[in-house]
Amino acid sequence: MSTDHPLGTRVADIRTFLTEDPQSWDILWKKKVTPWDSGEIQPPLRQVIESGDVPFARGGRALVPGCGRGYDTIYLASALGHDAIGLDASVTAVEAANELVRSESSNPELVSKIQFETADFFKYEVPEDKKFDLIYDYTFFVAIPPSKRLLWGSQINSLIKPGGYLITLMFPQVPPRDPQPYTTGPPFYSNFASYEEVLRAGGSEWEVVLDKIPDDATLLDAHKGKDRIVVWKRSA
Ligand SMILES: C[S@@+](CC[C@H](N)C(=O)[O-])C[C@H]1O[C@@H](n2cnc3c(N)ncnc32)[C@H](O)[C@@H]1O
Repeated sequence: MSTDHPLGTRVADIRTFLTEDPQSWDILWKKKVTPWDSGEIQPPLRQVIESGDVPFARGGRALVPGCGRGYDTIYLASALGHDAIGLDASVTAVEAANELVRSESSNPELVSKIQFETADFFKYEVPEDKKFDLIYDYTFFVAIPPSKRLLWGSQINSLIKPGGYLITLMFPQVPPRDPQPYTTGPPFYSNFASYEEVLRAGGSEWEVVLDKIPDDATLLDAHKGKDRIVVWKRSA
């Protein structure tokens, strides 16, 4: 089986730099080895928000763990009027995201809603009244070591409000019975079951309110046939 990264850089090359320490991602950012960075808002996220299929709150709070350069964080603030926090363990990623937000300086109201923070998602805490209406995960779940997935589930459960939504844009999807799933990814892999298992283990009930394989014609080239977007609602 090929270990080629769907975005063009070999998974093995990326893994060479990564350790269990999330700071190791900063090496990739500093070396500009960021093949996941599509340079734009993810089309499936835009489609889900614009479709109105899910009654997302307006003017709430959104969190984007492993936000990278922050295109989608800025979009959530703009499209939903949310106060949006993008978290990334890499200081270089957060600098890049802050640079991107500066390009929105003609819209100070939007800029005031966006915050990028250098932080480890697994140590991130907020008080009860600051829990999130929406969390969006795109290529963060597949970036963390699989041994941390249970912890990802419990963190999502503890950071999201009862009745809040989680959007998982799953990429790259692999068949559930892929005999060597760890050879795929940026740098790992995902499928529906891998999210469901750890979310439900986190203690809350989760309802799938939207589950869509986006039309390939609407996807960026590297994503064709590899995206699935699922919106989960935490029971109130
Ligand atoms: C594959 S990249 C995806 C970035 C972004 N979602 C995008 O698609 O452009 C994964 C990101 O997660 C960040 N990251 C990895 N481990 C983290 C952690 N424990 N806490 C916060 N960010 C982390 C990395 O620095 C990297 O920017």
